[in-house]
Amino acid sequence: MEKIKIGIVGAGGMALYHYKGFIKAGAEVKAIADMDQTRAQAFAAANNIEKIYTGLGEMLDALPELDGVSIITPNKFHRPLTVEALERGKHVYCEKPPALNAAEMGEMLDASKKAGKRLMFDFNNRARPESQAMIGYIRDGKVGTINSAQASWIRRAGIPGFGGWFTTKALSGGGPVIDLPHMLDLALYFMGFPEPEYLLSAAYYDFMDNRAFKGPWGIPDAARGITDVESSCHAMLTFKTGQNLMIRSSWAEMNEREVVSVTFQGAKAGGKLERIFGIDGLDETSIDTCRLFTEAYGNQVDLDIKTEKDESMGRIGNAVNFINAIGGGAKPYNTPEEALILMKIVDALYESAATRKPVLIR
Ligand SMILES: NC(=O)c1ccc[n+]([C@@H]2O[C@H](COP(=O)([O-])OP(=O)(O)OC[C@H]3O[C@@H](n4cnc5c(N)ncnc54)[C@H](O)[C@@H]3O)[C@@H](O)[C@H]2O)c1
Repeated sequence: MEKIKIGIVGAGGMALYHYKGFIKAGAEVKAIADMDQTRAQAFAAANNIEKIYTGLGEMLDALPELDGVSIITPNKFHRPLTVEALERGKHVYCEKPPALNAAEMGEMLDASKKAGKRLMFDFNNRARPESQAMIGYIRDGKVGTINSAQASWIRRAGIPGFGGWFTTKALSGGGPVIDLPHMLDLALYFMGFPEPEYLLSAAYYDFMDNRAFKGPWGIPDAARGITDVESSCHAMLTFKTGQNLMIRSSWAEMNEREVVSVTFQGAKAGGKLERIFGIDGLDETSIDTCRLFTEAYGNQVDLDIKTEKDESMGRIGNAVNFINAIGGGAKPYNTPEEALILMKIVDALYESAATRKPVLIR
């Protein structure tokens, strides 16, 4: 069988995970495009990629045989590049967040339907071995309806660079609310993507001018750049089904340490999927938990689910799934319809925080 041919747009930090996943799934990475040619050349040389381009259009003109592209650019370019690639008949694997807002995501969904091509996002946390183990129990009916859940990605000092695109709302769409949507997405996945109803949130802007809160990840500071995004947000969301979800996100907040978790309380079992990060990202002090809390024979029982440690946090596995979804008929880990629900919640998180009023999500 002929190999699936992929082109990558954006030679930033995530490109290597995409590349590794595509190769692992048996695809061919034919080209990399980046307006920063030094970056593109370095990436191509390190990974034996034959062709280098400055942008998506140039790459698609030169290589019409590409089956799919992956988009790894700052958030503002996700919509235009995704729509262009879909209109030119390509499957698209796009980094998170899907877009700057729900209206943009709606355009991307329409473009994928019109083109009849797959559109998948890098919600890599769904592909983690722990998440796949947990969804197995949920789908098997062991958890029952999840009444309530709590989704947190809270950093203590994790601003990803001051004045670069991450902290410029026009380029990123916002701070941790839109940059760290993974646990919100994972909670929705576990809850069965119920229809959201009301949301009430509060956002804070503390420490956005304090270099002591810079994270170990991200991009270099820009001397005269803009910093106009939130540093933390706290919210409660209800669903038309009667379920509810608490959401916490922060880049900078007086927390004990970085915690990435979804906890939930179901009719038959509760659960917790958590990564407590080390002092500096993923180190020997980080702790992974995947547990179910239930009752059997009159006793309270905890089930400790052991899975393989995945340093990539599902990033490689998710890229593998994209190739298998376009080539081998595998079920995609995420769909654009789900991404639209997520982006409506993101919009509501910003609207409620700005107006200080509950928002009805339609
Ligand atoms: N899934 C994850 O865990 C995860 C982690 C980090 C970043 N991300 C996402 O990945 C994306 C990129 O982030 P990053 O940290 O790699 O950023 P980055 O700034 O390091 O890299 C982005 C690259 O895109 C290039 N670029 C920008 N616009 C372009 C265009 N129109 N055409 C071609 N190239 C273009 C830039 O020159 C740059 O090299 C963002 O959407 C971010 O949210 C995801």
